Amino acid sequence: MISFRATSIAVTAALLAGCAAVPVDMEQRQPPLADGGDGPGIAHPEIWPAYDYPVPANPQAEQRIADLLNRMTLEEKIGQLVQADLCCVTPEDVRRYNLGSILVGGNSGPGGDDLAPAPEWLKAADEFYLASVDRSDGGVGVPLVWGTDAVHGHSNIVGATIFPHNIGLGAMRDPSLVEKIGAVTAKEIRVTGQEWTFAPTVAVPQDFRWGRAYEGYSSDPELVASYVGAMVRGLQGPPTNDNLLAGPYVIASTKHFLADGGTDRGVDQGDSSIDEETLRDIHGLPYGPAIGEGVATVMVSFSSWQGRKMTGNRSLVTDVLKDRMDFGGFVVSDWNAHGQVEGCTNESCPEALTAGIDMYMAPDTWKPIYEDLLARARSGEVSMERIDEAVARILRVKMRLGLFEAGKPSDRPLSGEYDLLGAPEHREVARQAVRQSMVLLKNQGVLPLRPGGRLLVAGDGADDIARQSGGWTLSWQGTGIDNSDFPGATSIFSGLKQTVEAGGGTAQLSPDGSFSERPDAAIVVFGEKPYAEFQGDRATLALDPELTAPYETMRKLKAQGIPVVALMLTGRPLYVNPALNMADAFVVAWLPGSEGGGVADVLVGNAAGQPRHGFTGKLPAAWPQTPAMEDGVLFPFGYGLTYGTAAQGWTPLPEIAVTETSDTRSWFTAGSPASGWSLLVGGEEGDVQTRVTTVPAEALRGRVRVTATDYLVQEGGRRFTIADGDTSVLLRNFEPVNVDRETNGDVKLLFTLRVWDAPDSASIGAGGESGRGAVSFDMQQSSEWRRYGIPLKCLRAQGADVTELTLPFILRTQGTADYALGEVRLGTDAEVDVPCS
Ligand code: BGC
Ligand code: BGC
Repeated sequence: MISFRATSIAVTAALLAGCAAVPVDMEQRQPPLADGGDGPGIAHPEIWPAYDYPVPANPQAEQRIADLLNRMTLEEKIGQLVQADLCCVTPEDVRRYNLGSILVGGNSGPGGDDLAPAPEWLKAADEFYLASVDRSDGGVGVPLVWGTDAVHGHSNIVGATIFPHNIGLGAMRDPSLVEKIGAVTAKEIRVTGQEWTFAPTVAVPQDFRWGRAYEGYSSDPELVASYVGAMVRGLQGPPTNDNLLAGPYVIASTKHFLADGGTDRGVDQGDSSIDEETLRDIHGLPYGPAIGEGVATVMVSFSSWQGRKMTGNRSLVTDVLKDRMDFGGFVVSDWNAHGQVEGCTNESCPEALTAGIDMYMAPDTWKPIYEDLLARARSGEVSMERIDEAVARILRVKMRLGLFEAGKPSDRPLSGEYDLLGAPEHREVARQAVRQSMVLLKNQGVLPLRPGGRLLVAGDGADDIARQSGGWTLSWQGTGIDNSDFPGATSIFSGLKQTVEAGGGTAQLSPDGSFSERPDAAIVVFGEKPYAEFQGDRATLALDPELTAPYETMRKLKAQGIPVVALMLTGRPLYVNPALNMADAFVVAWLPGSEGGGVADVLVGNAAGQPRHGFTGKLPAAWPQTPAMEDGVLFPFGYGLTYGTAAQGWTPLPEIAVTETSDTRSWFTAGSPASGWSLLVGGEEGDVQTRVTTVPAEALRGRVRVTATDYLVQEGGRRFTIADGDTSVLLRNFEPVNVDRETNGDVKLLFTLRVWDAPDSASIGAGGESGRGAVSFDMQQSSEWRRYGIPLKCLRAQGADVTELTLPFILRTQGTADYALGEVRLGTDAEVDVPCS
């Protein structure tokens, strides 16, 4: 019998021994990672806590693993180590390359349809499964495992129950409810045939400028740690369970190891320069309970520690996580994260395997990664011991799942029981979480509302389920969807309306706060718009100024003597003092998800004016006093009023004017380029470029006339009336921007145009120090504004140096033209996709 411990120690010893003999070319590729050596980014396992992986060794399974390893060809083994995304793989590929896993990324779906109906997912699961177990070519046919980002419910599936994002759960302080949420999520995943969720995120965000902060439960490591075991248990069942698929379970993945929430300035995928003790005590803490519950997989972070990418850090992935912490499952890397490891590319990175990655998440690069690993294994450059150890870990998890016995997905328990998606009892669990997660920051006696009166529900977020659900909902960034994509869900407005009407009152929806009949009270729903990776990063903690229009609504209502409740949708604590000052009550609802009715449960009391449900939520992270956290805390971690708190006076908080967005991905907005950038008009060879500052202006000796036009705000756009010729409208900066990470994700360059007179031809491009690239596109006449999008990947493929863009936007036209530019930014929500040529 081989126990986990013995296996990993034996293999580590083999790796250490093998290290001295690494072939020269490997040595050049990999920066020195001296064993037992020291230096930045090298951890010291002996100072880390030791745990015991509780999954009992299963002698029969070990026997089978040994037997499989004997029978599998090298090709079959390498296949197990590779995970492809649904975007870019077919069942035939899985059959031919014996791929160990597939995933569905935030923007993928069966048949290329992100919003494909649930039965399509199950059908795809069957097709991929059957391809994986096909033995007609003489292989062993290891069943594949399908992973998905079910990070707040089965959140890629239309109709599923969407729970509050983790930051809201953090406000509840209720591990037992978290376990129930995990259990419901697992059931809903099983309906559509997947077996693996990339959750829970156990990040401990330390800087809320990070756009993924809401994926973490709290800034407090203890609070995060108190939830992790519960979530893993809810998803996987008890660690002693050895046939998960026979029950209502899936495997979990704690992510992202390590310090994803600890990067300097909260930069997504950035570097964390903290010392090792801080790394261990803050970011490492939640891995204890995860391992204690036998979490089956761990996903490694895109980020780096002390300058060294986690995906290539053997001291942490192997020596700390696998050996010291005794993690007995398998380690998966993040989306092409191997390409960021020092010396690696998306197509080649043996370093990740050497560091301890068992499975490569190689969404669109699975084939080159497979071929590269295979060639290097054949040449002896990567050790067979390491390959066998990685395959054994993957097979061990697959055995524990019961994958070898489960049959095809549609034959398994819960499969195809579509009524379970968004089942009333599941929605009730989510609604309870919504109630418990809201945090009351101010109440001058207006709450609870009486149900019998006339309620006005205002604000741009009041009737928008996508908005209340945030990123990682149906689409990657949570954008491009509307209420019709959420059958069975309840918006905040509709929840309020139901409740108020049941109590004999009325509720009127009026986003701008105007009304015909004077209301008794108003709720103004405002806050952030959905975002996920990259898109949510900000340079400060101010709510973007373009999202503060509801302040004006609050002001108007107050001026008329109407009591105002501010309800904030947000992934993080932000500076919103004007709203805090103005409103009579202020409630943080975080990102509550599909069950908006939970809001009314707490805000609306009974006829006697008594609460039906109290406020129990407490801040999972401190609230800032200004847009800069260094300026101190307004409300500390753990703060939250209840209905029992005696009404207090309100000393007005200082207000700071926030006029510019701190979104560094917004390159041209409200008529101006990003700060320090220029808007230029260029022409043919030899023409001097004209910098546009004030308008109206003339460029290219009168050939181009630049005027203002309205876009979103008055004079928010720039109109270019071009007499003829070759003309470029461009943005230039002197400090180059690096959009390499965004390029690897599916981020696009977005530009909004209104076209009165279309040019003869047009192209969109970008350029950097060492290369420009452009793609031609059909710029059509249109009286409406249209947001065009070109994947950064296409610009890179055309030669744009995305690591150092100094001309991040070049719109070139030929012939007479008349068009206006409203906005240029990075994002994913294009209305017109420019085809990659
Ligand atoms: C994210 C992960 C996610 C994966 C698959 C990555 O970009 O960082 O959290 O699980 O994509 O969608
Ligand atoms: C995928 C996400 C992934 C991201 C990586 C997107 O295209 O849909 O799942 O996390 O790229 O940055």
